[in-house]
Amino acid sequence: MSFLEITNLSIRFGGLVAVDDFNLSLEKGELVAIIGPNGAGKTTIFNMLTGIYKPTTGSIVLDGENMVGLKPYQFARKGITRTFQNIRLFSNATVADNVKIAHTMHNNQNLAKCMIRTPGMRKSEVELDRRVIELLDKLGLADKADFLAKNLPYGDQRRLEIARALMTEPKILLLDEPVAGMITTELEDMARLVPQIRRDFDVSIILIEHHMNFVMPIADRIKVLDFGKTISEGTPEYVQKDPKVIEAYLGGGYTQNGTA
Ligand SMILES: Nc1ncnc2c1ncn2[C@@H]1O[C@H](COP(=O)(O)OP(=O)(O)OP(=O)(O)O)[C@@H](O)[C@H]1O
Ligand SMILES: [Mg+2]
Repeated sequence: MSFLEITNLSIRFGGLVAVDDFNLSLEKGELVAIIGPNGAGKTTIFNMLTGIYKPTTGSIVLDGENMVGLKPYQFARKGITRTFQNIRLFSNATVADNVKIAHTMHNNQNLAKCMIRTPGMRKSEVELDRRVIELLDKLGLADKADFLAKNLPYGDQRRLEIARALMTEPKILLLDEPVAGMITTELEDMARLVPQIRRDFDVSIILIEHHMNFVMPIADRIKVLDFGKTISEGTPEYVQKDPKVIEAYLGGGYTQNGTA
């Protein structure tokens, strides 16, 4: 059995089957991309993989443990963390504080202890600051640690979201359209950063993206969704040439760049 085993995953909203029989076996350290036109069901898969939605049918097994029915914080504790399609940062907090808050929220059982500032606590605070800076450094944000999140350029905000997710030390990182709305140079930075994160943090990555050109060089495998169904899967080379994929993208008015 693979590290993450998703079997026959489906979810229905009223009459709409938003995700229909989705299957994925993810190995440790693998980078799999999910692509597909708007409304294909990509984000809904992430919502099921983080406990926000409970699938109508199917199973999610992480490291041999059934995850269906667990709460979002339990998914996070077990090591699945995501970023959001629409950036969610504390915009009036500093870059460093955004990362720290992620740590505190993830370890909220210690909140009561945080109120009493023992010497041990102060030591762990120093340690936490060190980790935050180290993380920001790896993501190229260390020199902006004291900026307010809202004052960061858009590309940096996306990287800060990833830094926050990494602060919870995930085993599987879910990235929902990390380059949406980016300009070309930012996109190139992200294309370097994602494989580097996978190496440096020893995580498996599932990446949702419209931009074919971004996904193709970095993904081991690609799954293509359309109207909830998996219409193609395989290596980037295979998927790119699959007539069904070309049809789905061209039919949806997409170019190779994923722009409508
Ligand atoms: N809570 C919900 N209630 C009803 N319908 C929903 C709900 N969440 C998602 N859907 C529907 O499920 C379908 C898949 O949506 P989803 O957000 O997963 O698409 P997506 O592939 O992420 O699209 P995009 O590329 O635009 O982000 C859409 O038709 C959407 O309207
Ligand atoms: Mg989406």
